[in-house]
Amino acid sequence: MLKFFNRNKQNTIDELDINNLPKHIGIIMDGNGRWAKKRGLPRSAGHRAGAKVLEQITRDAGHLGIRFLTVYAFSTENWKRPSDEVEALMKLLSEYLDDYKRLIGDEDIRVKIIGSYDGLSEEIIAKIKNIEEQTKNNSAITLNIALNYGGRDEIVKACQKISEKIKDGSITPENVTEDMISENLYTNYMPDPDFIIRPSGEYRLSNFLLWQSAYSEFWYSNILWPDFTRDDLIKAIIDYQKRNRRYGGV
Ligand code: IPE
Ligand code: IPE
Ligand code: MG
Repeated sequence: MLKFFNRNKQNTIDELDINNLPKHIGIIMDGNGRWAKKRGLPRSAGHRAGAKVLEQITRDAGHLGIRFLTVYAFSTENWKRPSDEVEALMKLLSEYLDDYKRLIGDEDIRVKIIGSYDGLSEEIIAKIKNIEEQTKNNSAITLNIALNYGGRDEIVKACQKISEKIKDGSITPENVTEDMISENLYTNYMPDPDFIIRPSGEYRLSNFLLWQSAYSEFWYSNILWPDFTRDDLIKAIIDYQKRNRRYGGV
């Protein structure tokens, strides 16, 4: 897969250890608004530029051999934004969901949407189901788009599902395990993220993959998401490969 990358002098790809790639990368795609502001453009132009970068980075991650990429596109808290911005974001998401070829091209990318359907229009929900169906047999990389996603909301929903089982008597409270909680999260078909990237100079999770990130490695940068490149992704992964993951051991 690495043949897709140009091994020229600016590229640090030779330092990459393909035997130690993160299986699952999470990206908090932040900084679109500031990118647009710097250029005197409306915030929606920043979101559009950010979506283009997502197309490219998904392909790059697939070519590198990353199996799961989870990107934060819209949080449960983003509804607080002015209605014109929320509308512009939903329109953009809707366009991409509609025309999934635009997002994945001819690549072997499976698209899944994680998050709550609460508050999403029927039209968007139908499009989510369609893109998941159309891409379900693709297997090189799974792109999970976190849409109307909140880590706390996800954990609450898992607790509700488990509580139902306690109520109907199929389990007792003592039977509740960490695995049971993981199995009731949106992310139950993938491993926890090994590596979480947040551009834009903010040093927080903003309600992204709270349960799943217990032992994730983090990488922060001042780059604004629409400026994020394949080389930044490679540099971040090289940095990840220098980390010593101990999981509480020695
Ligand atoms: C991230 O960019 C995209 C979404 C949250 C939808 P922002 O819109 O948060 O950009 P900044 O943080 O204001 O620059
Ligand atoms: C996190 O970014 C959500 C997404 C990237 C979709 P925000 O811009 O919403 O996060 P805060 O408000 O800076 O914490
Ligand atoms: Mg932001």
